[in-house]
Amino acid sequence: MIIEIPLSDILIDRMQYEDLKEVMEIEKEAFPDPWHVSFFKRLLHPRKKHMHLYVARLQDKIIGYVVFYLNFGEGHILNIAVAIEHRRRGVAKLLLTFALEYIETNAADVVFLEVSVNNSAALHLYKQFGFEVYGQRKRYYSDGSDAYVLRKHLQR
Ligand SMILES: CC(C)(COP(=O)(O)OP(=O)(O)OC[C@H]1O[C@@H](n2cnc3c(N)ncnc32)[C@H](O)[C@@H]1OP(=O)(O)O)[C@@H](O)C(=O)NCCC(=O)NCCS
Repeated sequence: MIIEIPLSDILIDRMQYEDLKEVMEIEKEAFPDPWHVSFFKRLLHPRKKHMHLYVARLQDKIIGYVVFYLNFGEGHILNIAVAIEHRRRGVAKLLLTFALEYIETNAADVVFLEVSVNNSAALHLYKQFGFEVYGQRKRYYSDGSDAYVLRKHLQR
């Protein structure tokens, strides 16, 4: 089922431990080899100050999330996913715009990410945002597929 939603109704909010049940539902439907909930919990630990986890919330429901970190002037997008019934409505664009703005205003001038060479939806998304292929990691994923390393320079 496709659900029509005005993007202005979506709130981007810090991920909390209480969000993990809903986040895991999206994670499991989004990836053949999903992150374990304990990994999200580790990243959410207050000591991990360089890690940033944000959810897209529509009313009380989580419909997507993005995970990124900042390190020595570089941003890294680690994860982004949108619930299947909310895809193709601009939610990933909203999350990625938020992440890139955050990274840019917090002293990074370049962003990297890895994406499966077979993930055409994500490759289209990143291309729209000006990411370019920087390298390729052979057999990066558990199914043996390769990843592109994508890079985008920011305009600080
Ligand atoms: C990739 C993903 C996050 C996109 O989320 P989304 O909310 O549907 O994306 P948006 O609606 O914001 O679309 C943004 C752009 O992405 C591209 N895109 C998204 N889905 C696409 C698809 N199925 N086929 C081709 N391009 C697609 C398009 O360029 C689109 O722009 P357009 O609508 O102007 O053409 C979503 O498909 C998803 O959760 N996939 C599983 C998880 C995943 O692969 N994450 C990326 C890991 S690197």
